[in-house]
Amino acid sequence: MDAEPGRVVYAMAKTFYVTTPIYYVNAEPHIGHAYTTINADFLARWKRLDGYDTFFLTGTDEHGEKIAQAAAKAGKEPQKFVDEVSAKFKRAWQTLHISYDDFIRTTEPRHKRVVQLYLQEIYDRGDIYYGEYEGLYCVGCERFLTEKELVDGKCPDHGIEPEPRREGNYFFKMEKYRAWLRDHINKHPGFIRPERYRNEVLSILSEPIGDLSISRPKSRVTWGIELPWDPEHVTYVWFDALLNYVSALGYPDGEKYKKYWPAAQHMIGKDILKTHAVFWPTMLKAGDVEIYKHLNVGGHLLADGRKMSKSLGNVINPFEWSEKYGPDAVRYYLLKETPYGLDGVVSEKGLIERYNADLANDLGNLLQRVRTMVSKYLGGKLQKREPGPAEEEVVRTSSSLAARVREFVDDLKFNQALEEVLQFVRLLNRYVNERAPWKIKDEDELNRVLYTVIDGLRTVAVLLEPAMPVKMAELRAALGLGELSVADVTEWGGLPDGHRLPEEAPILFPKIETGKERSQPEKAQAGTISYDDFAKLDLRVAEVKSVEKHPNADRLLVIRLDVGGEERTVVGGLAAHYKPEELVGKKVVLLANLKPRKLRGVVSQGMLLAAGGEGGTLALLTPEREVEPGSKIS
Ligand code: MSP
Repeated sequence: MDAEPGRVVYAMAKTFYVTTPIYYVNAEPHIGHAYTTINADFLARWKRLDGYDTFFLTGTDEHGEKIAQAAAKAGKEPQKFVDEVSAKFKRAWQTLHISYDDFIRTTEPRHKRVVQLYLQEIYDRGDIYYGEYEGLYCVGCERFLTEKELVDGKCPDHGIEPEPRREGNYFFKMEKYRAWLRDHINKHPGFIRPERYRNEVLSILSEPIGDLSISRPKSRVTWGIELPWDPEHVTYVWFDALLNYVSALGYPDGEKYKKYWPAAQHMIGKDILKTHAVFWPTMLKAGDVEIYKHLNVGGHLLADGRKMSKSLGNVINPFEWSEKYGPDAVRYYLLKETPYGLDGVVSEKGLIERYNADLANDLGNLLQRVRTMVSKYLGGKLQKREPGPAEEEVVRTSSSLAARVREFVDDLKFNQALEEVLQFVRLLNRYVNERAPWKIKDEDELNRVLYTVIDGLRTVAVLLEPAMPVKMAELRAALGLGELSVADVTEWGGLPDGHRLPEEAPILFPKIETGKERSQPEKAQAGTISYDDFAKLDLRVAEVKSVEKHPNADRLLVIRLDVGGEERTVVGGLAAHYKPEELVGKKVVLLANLKPRKLRGVVSQGMLLAAGGEGGTLALLTPEREVEPGSKIS
């Protein structure tokens, strides 16, 4: 049981609890929020379909300085301001078909009650004390940063210098639980996933983490929950926010709490790893509450290889996409495009290409074609005929598909789960082309072929439903089917004998016309280039921070670089030439403005320069003297 404790317990108890971060209401819902929420919704919908009693929680984080400042800027009372923005999140999630069971707001009485109860509990246990604190505070992060976390004296996430602050605070004895937490993470390999983030946390825990300041004096911050034993202080926003995961369940004696805690999986973005992997478990331990099962950490979405930001003007609005192409297309694209856990590059062009290839061509056309054939050749009614040798591959793949998808989903490989289903759709297309029903005269044979394809599409409709709930309901309707679950598609042949397809069905995925001609192949370059051509190359010194083997290709390494404060990931064919650990700490030369491209599913943001290779020694170029990462090469 120790190897995968979470999974075994769920299989027996059949309850599943999944959460998103609760979003700060100082910003409108954007694609980063949508991405995290869609991932969680996918998981929740999958578990429900797979027979789990599932509870899916999202919500908004409404206290703290940052929110109070945003309200003031908008010229509104904080409560009115947070009411408005929180409502926008609710509307956004409706648009994207997010199937949350509860939406918690930290300004609700049910939440405040639990925060005060919990604080009092650990205060009484002696894990909270009063002291003076001096440090560098980033309002963007709403926490004190350590010197080590700064890049050029600035917060790496917000690009601003944190302010020095000295104040009287209450402290939570977090350091006391460091050894216990390390031990827990070591004993439970799947506790923090994917593995790179587990390693990051273990590295944080290899040094003292100190105690956590958990209050703010009212003289400075009023927008928060008062400490029950000292109303002159309000609760630090992270201490308040993290407790939403249990307050929403009715901690400590609510029915939902008893049912769903601790079978929890928290889905977060990598920017809030430390708060969830260090603050939260130690807080739970201090209150003698069992800790959650899994922390699932997602990467960030980038617009054009860079982090999205208002100042760069590259912020993507998923709600505009949703209006243009439909929410399910956006959900499918975001889930399919990027391996969970890694950063991903998204664009409108990418969405259109993915939609046209997978959904309009592979799936939509297949449905259209076979529906027409069933109507034309069989009057809309299918007789079940046992499969013959020609059906063998389809039947075998179809019967084992749900189990394979389940395995990918449990491993958080959402993109591969979807790809597995698409591979099956492509197999069905090949099968139809090979069997060519339009040439078959024998009625039994015709029924055999068309039944097999429609039964295959039945399986597809169920397995793609967590990604595209509305479109897959339409697909089921086009097949004359009602609601189904994963248990209904674990074997070939669930479609009843004599099943009728409805006469009318709208086109499921109309092709998106872009109106653009295919671009001409580039003309061959002449033998020389101008200086201007050379100047187009943005070559920079970068320092290798970490290296991993590529999850899908033996030849490739995934290399994380520091390019003067900016983090980049580059995928390179170096595995045969360097061991990952040999590269860490090396200064290398990066072609930084190469258009990002995907190599076997991982986005590479640039290229490292190397000499040799081609069967012989390959050597990475490195600067001959010590220079700072980020230095320009000219
Ligand atoms: N309020 C805290 C979370 C408290 S949870 C107890 C918070 N809120 S947030 O609104 O700033 O961001 C929440 C999450 O949004 C991030 O962790 C991440 O999951 C997601 N994202 C924000 N920008 C993102 C991208 N560009 N890409 C993907 N997700 C990112 O932090």
